[in-house]
Amino acid sequence: MPKVLVVYFSRTGNTEKMANSVAEGIKEVGVGVVVKKAEVVKIDDIVAADAIAFGSATSWGYMGGKLKDVFENMLIQARDKFKGKPFAVFTSAGVIESGKKAAESIEYIAKYFNMQSAAKGVVSQGNPTDKDKEACKELGKKLAQTIK
Ligand SMILES: Cc1cc2nc3c(=O)[nH]c(=O)nc-3n(C[C@H](O)[C@H](O)[C@H](O)COP(=O)(O)O)c2cc1C
Repeated sequence: MPKVLVVYFSRTGNTEKMANSVAEGIKEVGVGVVVKKAEVVKIDDIVAADAIAFGSATSWGYMGGKLKDVFENMLIQARDKFKGKPFAVFTSAGVIESGKKAAESIEYIAKYFNMQSAAKGVVSQGNPTDKDKEACKELGKKLAQTIK
């Protein structure tokens, strides 16, 4: 069964709620999903995934350092394994414009690895609303459809 990895950094739980909604959308499409915090994800999880959703709390207008570490470890260990792999991005922020910058920082690096964007990223402010969660679910569905 094809499998999506949802990997995220969340300090106070907002991005985590978004990650869970992305995972719900993936499951609805009938695709496998593994949800891991950036702090515990392993390179094997990343390489084994057919598509990846990256999520982060916004820190100083950028992705959180823990997610950046994931990219930097990928770069060193498996930089050639991601060509064409679909990805999607979600971020949580205090200010939407800042969250968009954090999402762009993730997209920039995913594209450096020649990954393919599956959908426009989702940015939410603070505690995600039902509408935000729905947008995350849709994001998960779109990402999962690319590998079904
Ligand atoms: C150290 C730190 C830096 C932050 N930097 C930004 C920022 O640059 N822009 C912004 O909009 N929000 C910023 N925030 C707010 C968080 O991104 C926001 O509260 C987010 O919802 C937290 O997500 P989480 O609950 O998943 O950790 C910052 C918060 C902390 C603790």
